[in-house]
Amino acid sequence: MKVRKAVIPAAGLGTRVLPASKAVPKEMLPIVDKPAIQYIVEEAVASGIEDILIITNRGKSLIEDHFDHAPELEDKLRSSGKQDLFDQVVSLAHLCNIQYVRQKETRGLGHAVGCAKSFVGNESFAVLYGDDVVISPPEKPAIGELIAVHETYGKSVVGIKEVPDDLLRSYCTLGVKPVQNAVYEVFDMIEKPLPEEVISNFAILGRCVLTPDIFELIENTPPSRNNEVQLTDAMRTLAKRGDMMGIAYTGKRYDMGNKLGILQATIEVGLTHPEIGTGLRAYLKEIASTL
Ligand code: UTP
Repeated sequence: MKVRKAVIPAAGLGTRVLPASKAVPKEMLPIVDKPAIQYIVEEAVASGIEDILIITNRGKSLIEDHFDHAPELEDKLRSSGKQDLFDQVVSLAHLCNIQYVRQKETRGLGHAVGCAKSFVGNESFAVLYGDDVVISPPEKPAIGELIAVHETYGKSVVGIKEVPDDLLRSYCTLGVKPVQNAVYEVFDMIEKPLPEEVISNFAILGRCVLTPDIFELIENTPPSRNNEVQLTDAMRTLAKRGDMMGIAYTGKRYDMGNKLGILQATIEVGLTHPEIGTGLRAYLKEIASTL
């Protein structure tokens, strides 16, 4: 079944990047010259998504402003002949059909996805975590790779990567069986595992395609770690009944909910940026020699 809709949960508190995220949503923190959430929306559009729902909360109206017209700014750019910037700014209002819904209490990622029920209806949909930016070759946007697996197998799909032992406890651990190339069957998953619960070093990193039966599972999922409704707990039922696949997607994922992740993304994207790449490379070489 074709996947046309995407949900971007962006209603978390972002405590790991405070105080930066006190008034500015962490999803709006920039990588060079674009906020994180713009990379994510562009990935969805490049993957054939037509409708996006962003889950927000109080204080996240900057996200709505970013994907809207800014008449004064547009007039100024046009009248001063800055056509390239004008085109970039205007195009943001036309990237995709974007809607918003508020998660009224911060009750976890599972609860946030549950807020998308009436938007999604009875079709499979993509989920792109609002603080996980994946930089991929243009022909392989990460969520597009998951959608292709969904179209082949008709099951839910998670985007996975192997992560070092010390990171597993902040993510989740997956039971996987290889199927072909980077595609796996996922038969179990445990959120934020204790060392004795670790099944493998594979974890879900920021992307899923879910069948609509996930909503009933979310409704029946009690809060667990951090007293939040965990999406992983709801997806575990799909895995246990043989309805979950995984793909180790090609792109590199950056955790924008984490200070080091933000710096890594900034440096790596900056190095390839046409305007500042050369200058940044020279600067990094200069300071690296002093470290
Ligand atoms: P995180 O667990 O990284 O978000 O959720 P967080 O709660 O903001 O992080 P910390 O631990 O306080 O720093 C992953 C994604 O899910 C969203 C977040 O905005 C992020 O994009 N989320 C999380 C929600 O939309 N609602 C929630 O209740 C929790």
